Amino acid sequence: MMSSPAAEPSWALVWEDDITPSGHARLADLLALAFPRSTAFVGARSWSSGRPELRLVARRDARAVAHLGILRRFLRVPERDASVLVGDVGLVAVAPGEQGSGLGRELLRRGDTALRGLDVPFGYLTCGDHVAPFYERCGWVRVSGGTRMIRADGRVQVYGGVSMVREVHASLAAWPDGCLVDRNGLEI
Ligand SMILES: CC(C)(COP(=O)(O)OP(=O)(O)OC[C@H]1O[C@@H](n2cnc3c(N)ncnc32)[C@H](O)[C@@H]1OP(=O)(O)O)[C@@H](O)C(=O)NCCC(=O)NCCS
Repeated sequence: MMSSPAAEPSWALVWEDDITPSGHARLADLLALAFPRSTAFVGARSWSSGRPELRLVARRDARAVAHLGILRRFLRVPERDASVLVGDVGLVAVAPGEQGSGLGRELLRRGDTALRGLDVPFGYLTCGDHVAPFYERCGWVRVSGGTRMIRADGRVQVYGGVSMVREVHASLAAWPDGCLVDRNGLEI
């Protein structure tokens, strides 16, 4: 007998204030599985460094199977004495058993819609070199100049990985490429 394909997950956008402790615990379960080297996701702690304001969650039954978080913030561009509003994206995760089947692409596609709804010019994220090709496949673009930020342990550093931008309501031509940006906060 052929096994039936898994049912489509249900998708929801949830504001941070509206997530219950058990909702956080279910997100923490997913994030602990997706980031096995992290020790942050215990109990109802569904964040690692900074906390998002809005989360996009795919659920199958009660289980969270895909997730990303967004926080609107102004990145400082000291070289231009300017700031740029972004939807800072992080905690991007697909349940290990479901990776490689297009769910991550669907997550970012819906993430694009969420960013448009937040009315930001750009999406922004920092990630490891190994995962940057995934974002590139989904329309994100590497930018140079680097990101200065506060690490989870409180130290300020220029991030050693990749910084990426997504066009939302502005054109990439308006991005201050080549300039260091100051996040002045924690990675989501
Ligand atoms: C990264 C992650 C979200 C991708 O989700 P996924 O469901 O496996 O991705 P998809 O199957 O939708 O892949 C979409 C495209 O990206 C490519 N891709 C996915 N992961 C990739 C990777 N690590 N490197 C290169 N390409 C990758 C796929 O081949 C696919 O390309 P194609 O459609 O052109 O063939 C998922 O692997 C994950 O949760 N990883 C662990 C947590 C993590 O590292 N998150 C990112 C933190 S910055």
